Amino acid sequence: MYNLLGIEIKTPIIIGSGPLSYSAESMKKLYDAGAGAVVTKTIRKQRAINPAPHMVKSTNNSLINNEKWTDFDPERWIDEEIPKLKEMGVVNIASVGHTLEESSQLVERLEKAGADIIELVSYDYTDLIPMVKDTKNRVSIPIIAKLPPTVPNIGDFCMELEKAGVDAITACDSVGPAFRIDIETGRPLLGGNGFGWLTGEVIKPITLHKIYEISKKVNVPIIGLGGCMTGADGVEMVMAGANFIGICTAPIIKGENIIDKIYKDFCTNLERLGYDSIDEACGIVHRYMGESNERTKFEFSWQEDRCTRCKLCERVCAYEARNLKDMMELDEEECRYCGLCISVCPTKALEAKYL
Ligand SMILES: Cc1cc2nc3c(=O)[nH]c(=O)nc-3n(C[C@H](O)[C@H](O)[C@H](O)COP(=O)(O)O)c2cc1C
Repeated sequence: MYNLLGIEIKTPIIIGSGPLSYSAESMKKLYDAGAGAVVTKTIRKQRAINPAPHMVKSTNNSLINNEKWTDFDPERWIDEEIPKLKEMGVVNIASVGHTLEESSQLVERLEKAGADIIELVSYDYTDLIPMVKDTKNRVSIPIIAKLPPTVPNIGDFCMELEKAGVDAITACDSVGPAFRIDIETGRPLLGGNGFGWLTGEVIKPITLHKIYEISKKVNVPIIGLGGCMTGADGVEMVMAGANFIGICTAPIIKGENIIDKIYKDFCTNLERLGYDSIDEACGIVHRYMGESNERTKFEFSWQEDRCTRCKLCERVCAYEARNLKDMMELDEEECRYCGLCISVCPTKALEAKYL
C-alpha cells in the first residue's frame, strides 16, 4: 500500500483529469484496472460544451485536445457522481477550476459529497495561490494544486503555494497551445479555434524538467503527470523527484489495461535497479545535475557481440568520426563527444562509460 496525503492507496498510479474520468462509472473502471486514485474531469460552475472534434492523435503516442472541463453540471457531481464514488470505494480527487469565485462555491459541497481530496486547477496560474488559501479555510481534506508547465520560475512559485498551505503539487498540465493541419483540406484537425493542448509521450522531457525544478524547492509530495506511457517513464519521473505517477493519455490511447502494466513494469524496473521503495529512487538525478558547463568525462565502450552492424552510429555522426569496419573505430581528433551515436544504438552495443 502507498500513502497519498494520509489516504491508503493500492498503487502509486493516479489517473489525471480527462475524458476517461467523465463520470463515477468510468472512474470506477480505471480504479478497478489498477489506479490508486482517480481525478474527476474538472468541475466548474457551469457545464462545458465542447468543440467537435476536440481530440486528435498526433505523433508518438501523443494527443492534441481542446476538450474543456466536465460536461456535467456541478450539481450532478455533488448529488450523484461523488456520492457514488464514495459508495463504490474509489479514492477520488475532485478537480475544481478555474477561478477563485468558482472554487469558493464548490469545494465545501464537494467535500460534503464525499471527495477524498481537492485538486485546484486554473488557466491563470496566479489564481492558484488565492484559490489554495481560500480552499484551506473551507475544507479539511487535502488540497493539490495542478500547474501548467508554462509557469515562470516554477520552483519558486511552488514555494509560494506551499506557504499558502497546499498539500501536494501535480506537475504538470498539458503543453501548448499546439495544433495540426489536414493538408488535404487545409483545415485544422481540431474544431473550435483549431488550437489545443499536447499530451502523451512527446511532453515527457518537459514534465521531467518541471518535476526536477519543483522538487528542488518544495517538501510537499509531487504527482508527476505528463507523458508517462511505460513503467520506465514512471521511474524517470520518480528519479526527477516525483512521489506519485500520474497518467492520462496512456489509457486513452492504449485502454485501461495499460494501468496495471505500467504499475507492474514500474515495480519490476525499480527492483531491477536495486531500489526498495519510491523514496529510495526519488530525486536520484539531482546529484548528477551539474551547474557548470564543464564537459562530463566519459569514454565509449563497444560490445561487439551486441552490435548488429546497422551502422546507425556512423550515419548520425555529423563529424564523420565513427567508422564501423571489422571493429568499431573512432577518430578521436574529430569526435566532439556529442553522444548521438550512443543514443541511437538500438542494442546498446555502444555505451558511455563515465570516468
Ligand atoms: C482529452 C483530454 C482532456 C483533459 N481534460 C482535463 C481537465 O478537464 N482538467 C485537467 O486538469 N486536465 C485535463 N487534461 C490534462 C491531463 O489531466 C494531463 O495533465 C495531461 O494529459 C498530461 O498527462 P499525460 O501526458 O499522461 O496525458 C486533459 C487531457 C486530455 C488528453
